[in-house]
Amino acid sequence: MKNIGRRRLNLLNKSELKKLSKMSKETKSIYDSWADEYDKDLMTIMDYKTPTKMANLMKVSLLPNDKIIDIGCGTGLMGEAINHLNIENIKYAGIDLSAKSLKVAHKKKIYYKLTQGDITTTLPYRTNSFTVAVCCGVFEYFKDIAPILKEIKRVASDLIIFNFPTTKPPYLNSHSRKEVLASMKKIGVGRVEDETRFLAWKSGYRNTVKDIYSTGMIVDIEGK
Ligand SMILES: C[S@@+](CC[C@H](N)C(=O)[O-])C[C@H]1O[C@@H](n2cnc3c(N)ncnc32)[C@H](O)[C@@H]1O
Repeated sequence: MKNIGRRRLNLLNKSELKKLSKMSKETKSIYDSWADEYDKDLMTIMDYKTPTKMANLMKVSLLPNDKIIDIGCGTGLMGEAINHLNIENIKYAGIDLSAKSLKVAHKKKIYYKLTQGDITTTLPYRTNSFTVAVCCGVFEYFKDIAPILKEIKRVASDLIIFNFPTTKPPYLNSHSRKEVLASMKKIGVGRVEDETRFLAWKSGYRNTVKDIYSTGMIVDIEGK
């Protein structure tokens, strides 16, 4: 790994990672300070494959004119990956804690609406404002994903597409498939239309590099 790689990976040192898992306020400040370098670091150093994998997983389920909410959109890598699918007239909105990440996303000219907000609270959208919700690389911040999924279900009418790490990233949370299916049952979303396990990213910590695996799921909520 090049020097620049080591320097960036130092960003994920023990105290920073502890903060990441603690409080939204600290998560916000870490992502704010990372925003300008985030895309470069994730793609070149951490080999972040999740947005592309998730977009490919979603491909068969998306329809022209879908209105997508990107939950924890960050700098907009997921919007970019979906955009590459070239589906007609898709509209994207995004919500994230980090105002600076949203600024980076805004410059990409993909999202028609970007909102700074905390997804652990009531989402600032009316019921069924969107047809599809996507949540990529975010569930590792939460021990219990059920309340977040419940809110996502309220604002999206047809589909929820999300991923969850099955390998534990340092100081964050992993989720087993069984646990996620139980959360889905709890909030009353049933049918898993598709799921796949994939290599999501490389997590660097104290000069060791760990492969983090993730499972992507598509949940059909049309019958809600
Ligand atoms: C690993 S990044 C993923 C960003 C983007 N989805 C992607 O795939 O590149 C995690 C994102 O979740 C956001 N996040 C974490 N906790 C959040 C919360 N409680 N409310 C809103 N956003 C949150 C962070 O600000 C960060 O942008």
